[in-house]
Amino acid sequence: MRYVSPTILAIESSCDETSASVIKNGKVLNNIIASQNIHQKYGGVVPELASRAHQKNILVVVEQALTQAGVKSDQLDAIGFTRGPGLMGALMVGVSFAKGMALGLNIPLIEVNHMHAHMLAHFIQKENHDKPAPSFPFICLTVSGGHTQIILVNDYLNFTILGQTQDDAVGEAFDKGAKMLGLPYPGGPLIDQNARDGNPMRFSFPVTTMDGYDFSFSGIKTALLYFIRDKVKDNPGFVQENMNDICASYQSALISMLMIKIRKAVHEFNIRDVALAGGVAANSALRNALKAEGKQNGWHVYIPDFEYCTDNAAMIAITAHYKFLKGEFCNLDVTPVASFSDL
Ligand code: KG4
Ligand code: ZN
Repeated sequence: MRYVSPTILAIESSCDETSASVIKNGKVLNNIIASQNIHQKYGGVVPELASRAHQKNILVVVEQALTQAGVKSDQLDAIGFTRGPGLMGALMVGVSFAKGMALGLNIPLIEVNHMHAHMLAHFIQKENHDKPAPSFPFICLTVSGGHTQIILVNDYLNFTILGQTQDDAVGEAFDKGAKMLGLPYPGGPLIDQNARDGNPMRFSFPVTTMDGYDFSFSGIKTALLYFIRDKVKDNPGFVQENMNDICASYQSALISMLMIKIRKAVHEFNIRDVALAGGVAANSALRNALKAEGKQNGWHVYIPDFEYCTDNAAMIAITAHYKFLKGEFCNLDVTPVASFSDL
């Protein structure tokens, strides 16, 4: 009877956020996140430093999640954790912790694919707060720092990846573009912020498309590099003087590349429900572009709350919940997997 409404602890440690969440009866009770600011001075995530910070944070974060939820460890029915994709050392910390806890409590383990979890962030429900969720099948554009995927989601545990990036992720295109402009890491949110006061039509960057549903962002990144190099030759202050317009124009081209594939998928699969997920779903211009196009075409658009766009354990918890209901558990000899294609 207890299993009809499981209580699950979920752990996320794939990159630079250590996070834990408790879910009970399908309601997320909390979402504790310890962010790692240490990487900022290096201009990107340093894997070894990420692993060490996870080790330092994980016990505190898990204890806080359980205490705040008012759940004792012996009341847990399962432990969910991110198996991958992500940084191997970072994943190792979460996987080992989850295994240790499941073994100690003699409860099942549930492995979660981090990208699957980003998609299911739309189904996170809190106590006394039900948010409308997409209906199946829907199209989900998952855009993060490491991945860019367009997915046909048929059910909670059944989805088809229609296309993905063949080189950089769109989050990387934001972050690397920001670095070229002299902005600190992670630069995605700063491009977003500067672009709000900029003219997206001022400069032109190439909107390239690939066959089918795949993406490529390396060309536009190189275009920005050459653009800056040429402009700075004549005017060393060019970037500072035109920062907002450069950010707005570069961002606008990136968004166009994403919107082309969404339109194509909606049309081909005759879909009404369209969703955004992943860290780049926090981008205000992308959110606005999708909402505006949805309004124009009668699509139902779903975008998770900011807290659930970037990496968090609540999305791992909701995915673990649906896997629990289907009895999808894993063995204690499970190992972390760095690459999405190996999962
Ligand atoms: O999903 P996420 O938290 O981590 C990964 O799984 O990669 O995504 C992080 C990415 C970073 O590239 C960050 O710059 C980007 O999301 N990001 C944004 C914004 N907020 C976060 N990019 C553009 N505009 C934003 N507002
Ligand atoms: Zn992520």
